[in-house]
Amino acid sequence: MVTSVAGMQQLAKSWQRKGVRVGFVPTMGYLHAGHMSLVKRARQMVGKSGKVVVSIYVNPTQFGPKEDLSRYPRDLKRDQQLCRAEGVDVLFVPSDQEMYPQNGIGAYSTYVVEETLSRGMEGVSRPTHFRGVTTIVAKLFNIVQPQVAVFGAKDFQQAAVVQRMVRDLNFPLKIVVAPTHREPDGLAMSSRNKYLSTDERQQALALSLAIKAAQQAVKSSKQSLAANKLRANLFKLISQHPAARVDYIEFFDPQTLQPVTQVSCGTQMALAVFVGRTRLIDNARL
Ligand code: PAF
Repeated sequence: MVTSVAGMQQLAKSWQRKGVRVGFVPTMGYLHAGHMSLVKRARQMVGKSGKVVVSIYVNPTQFGPKEDLSRYPRDLKRDQQLCRAEGVDVLFVPSDQEMYPQNGIGAYSTYVVEETLSRGMEGVSRPTHFRGVTTIVAKLFNIVQPQVAVFGAKDFQQAAVVQRMVRDLNFPLKIVVAPTHREPDGLAMSSRNKYLSTDERQQALALSLAIKAAQQAVKSSKQSLAANKLRANLFKLISQHPAARVDYIEFFDPQTLQPVTQVSCGTQMALAVFVGRTRLIDNARL
């Protein structure tokens, strides 16, 4: 395990000198099978002779003032075991002081902002979220210096924003987006699923059921569907789950993330739903 920025950068430089390829999976820890599938993908990308680095850092700048930063689940021991079992070469686990030094007038003061793809959906509900994500991901790329970084498709907008940042700021690496890992009943895997009570866990199926219903509606219709009508139907379906409250349901172009008024095969759908106090997101291509 490496905890200092200087230590991680030194390691990265020594690998670079030897021509070793580095695959990177940034995480906030409390790892699950979804994360481990990203690790497997990173290993595939760099091969046996390459190095796989996983970072675990609950990044405060991507949480809003009323969000779950302080109660975000953590279990470093278990994360270490999972990473060891999966053949991860280095766990990078920096402290807040290491990432965002707070030294009075010399305190941390630089941020990275993507100004188009980050505006809608999560950007509306969580206005400072993507500024935190792009900032920490840019920092991690400069520290780990990977050739490949793997992100999960569950955070579709995040992956799009990071890809745009990598292109716009000329980071010399490839972004791979790996498919969403689901529980057998359809719930997308997320560290936040841990917050759900037994009853809420059942009601959390509202998200994947809404996606399935939208996919079915598109499949069985010969023409495109009015987005507003489909959205209203999905609101109804979700409201049958008393603990569930829709934050947004959006239909959009998967490349530009621009909302569409007509939904057809190839349209992307994303939704955010509060189940009790827990905010869950999911998405799929229709
Ligand atoms: O997806 C996450 O877990 C986080 O947003 C990330 C990419 C690790 C940045 O903190």
